[in-house]
Amino acid sequence: MADTMLPDAPAGPVAVDVAAWPASLAEFAGPARAALPPEVWDFINGGSGTETTLTANRAALDRVAVLPRVLTGVDRPRTDAPLLGRAQAMPVAVAPMAYQRLVHPDGEPALAAAAAAAGVPYVASTLSSTPIEEIAAAGDQVWFQLYWLRERGMVADLLDRVHAAGCTALMVTVDVPILGRRLRDVRNGFALPPHVTAANLPGGRNDLAHQGTPGVSAVSAGAVFAPALSWADLEWLRGRTPLPLLIKGILDPRDAVRAAEAGAAAVVVSNHGGRQLDGAPATVTVLPEVVAAVGERCEVLLDSGVRGGVDVLRALALGARGVLVGRPMLWALAAGGRAGAEAALALLAAELRDALTLTGCADPAAARQLRTLTGG
Ligand SMILES: Cc1cc2nc3c(=O)[nH]c(=O)nc-3n(C[C@H](O)[C@H](O)[C@H](O)COP(=O)(O)O)c2cc1C
Repeated sequence: MADTMLPDAPAGPVAVDVAAWPASLAEFAGPARAALPPEVWDFINGGSGTETTLTANRAALDRVAVLPRVLTGVDRPRTDAPLLGRAQAMPVAVAPMAYQRLVHPDGEPALAAAAAAAGVPYVASTLSSTPIEEIAAAGDQVWFQLYWLRERGMVADLLDRVHAAGCTALMVTVDVPILGRRLRDVRNGFALPPHVTAANLPGGRNDLAHQGTPGVSAVSAGAVFAPALSWADLEWLRGRTPLPLLIKGILDPRDAVRAAEAGAAAVVVSNHGGRQLDGAPATVTVLPEVVAAVGERCEVLLDSGVRGGVDVLRALALGARGVLVGRPMLWALAAGGRAGAEAALALLAAELRDALTLTGCADPAAARQLRTLTGG
């Protein structure tokens, strides 16, 4: 929990040919859209219901104004910062996202390798389209995201594999008792193509997710999660794994406190990128309350709508330790495979360095002392 930099801070993103790639993370969306079938584009980018929360995430981030400090004598800030007590090249991790072979044949191993090259953690989804063992071999720090499967025995088997594969943290997603109603997928009758399977599940797939029916999202119909997850299950998990636990999908400060008391090393303030409860608040609007509630008891990370270095700065200034980045990483993977994803992460690091320089911060820890205004 110390703000001091650890001595073994990684070097940071590898040099990439910046001229070959878009000038901002958001601009990776263009080539990605051109490369993807429309229904896959919709699956990635859609939110639930009226997409009110999806839109609110971005709007709320844009309303956070950060007050720069001046005359601080900072020349070239460091971007490295610890997450879960381990030095990272920047306070960023690649968010868990299902079925990455939908967007590029190299899928999860390519994105995990790009994260490793950038010196940041990659979070592998339970619903990865590549087995966790292969992802862990391609990456460096691979965290595993757990969706609670209906049978506890299946969860236990998965945990054994996650431990054996060398994953370094476990992120439990708690905002998916069912999948949100994603109307784009419903209208498209979206189903997974045969070559994209849930490679970590027994039998290698969830059959229903492949059965296209007009007016039905097969991905939703094929969901295999236990809806009635409770704090008692988390206690069982705590006793079942030595890995640090992150609880993802927290919005209410009372739940954040409860998670910290249950032994979580971190909570992720997330509304799943606007894909679950439509009408949930934008994450930056609840972040300060969550940070105040948990204090030093655990780390607080944020996701949903982060699209650049200034957004990382905003989250830090509002008290987060770091952020997860979701869709832009899929756009970059779709646009250019591993090289595209490396370029996107290098760009994010460069943007963060610029944002720190412009606010007079020597490092991300200093950014957590900045003041913000909202609504103006
Ligand atoms: C295509 C897609 C698949 C996702 N799959 C998962 C998943 O398997 N597990 C999970 O915890 N979150 C999943 N998420 C949510 C992300 O981890 C993250 O919370 C969200 O994408 C952050 O918002 P952003 O995309 O605006 O950055 C998914 C998001 C997208 C866009």
